[in-house]
Amino acid sequence: MTTQLLNGNLLAKEIKNEISNIIEKKILNENKRMPHLGIILTGNNSSSITYVNNKIKECKNIGIQYSLIHLPINTLENKLLEEIKKMNRNPYIDGFIVQLPLEKHMNQDKIILSIDPKKDVDGFHPENFGKMSLGMKAFFPATALGILTVLERYKIQIYGKHTVVIGRSRIVGRPISILMSRKNYFGNSTVTITHSKTKNIEFYTKQADIIIVAVGIPKFLKGKMIKKGAVVIDVGIHNHENKILGDVDFYSVYGRASYLTPVPGGIGPMTRVMLLKNTLMAALNNRK
Ligand code: GUN
Repeated sequence: MTTQLLNGNLLAKEIKNEISNIIEKKILNENKRMPHLGIILTGNNSSSITYVNNKIKECKNIGIQYSLIHLPINTLENKLLEEIKKMNRNPYIDGFIVQLPLEKHMNQDKIILSIDPKKDVDGFHPENFGKMSLGMKAFFPATALGILTVLERYKIQIYGKHTVVIGRSRIVGRPISILMSRKNYFGNSTVTITHSKTKNIEFYTKQADIIIVAVGIPKFLKGKMIKKGAVVIDVGIHNHENKILGDVDFYSVYGRASYLTPVPGGIGPMTRVMLLKNTLMAALNNRK
């Protein structure tokens, strides 16, 4: 079977152009301030540093302003809460993110709850998450939005299809499960959520029309675990012996899937561009 690769780089470029056009029309032509994203990074997790640097690169690329607060390893939780308060109050910051994961001594729920939902461009605050779940307007988590946009723009039918999600994180698994099953013009998929404790996971993946893999284990999904013609979305990214690997065993799935996202160049660039889109949305809300 021929497998078509879903080109996240190309699509992200297309969407960046659309964002630039909106910035020109609704911000620059009306002499309004450019969108401004705040980023709070804690500690020295090398993946987080890479992710944040990539987000900054995208901001620079498109002209979105950014402010980075990098707190050293072992920073007290109160200091982080103080920085969040400053971002909440700063009228020049339209939206901001606190890069996850946090260090073990931090209470992640407490940190996320302290972010002003109007500035929560990650869509992690329960107010946004709840609104998303209920089909209301809100910020949606960027990776989930990126996956949905890839499927939509490539005109992959999800209505009535069986989607199996592997992983239940607040960043990907949970939000994408909710979005795929929404009663919405692009939704109505039948979703099964599986995770690291699911027994006999192949039983589920073999039945899936669409598989979204966000389990954090390199090469987890093998070709023999999917049915022929399935659509496979790989959300993993791992540095392994100077190679970048996804959660999908690319070479065994390639030729068996109908569509497949590569790593790199699949969901990664889409996630970054969706953060820009959310930041623009926050700025436009803030400039009314
Ligand atoms: N860590 C991995 N992905 C993300 C993301 O989308 N947002 C934040 N804040 N942290 C992350």
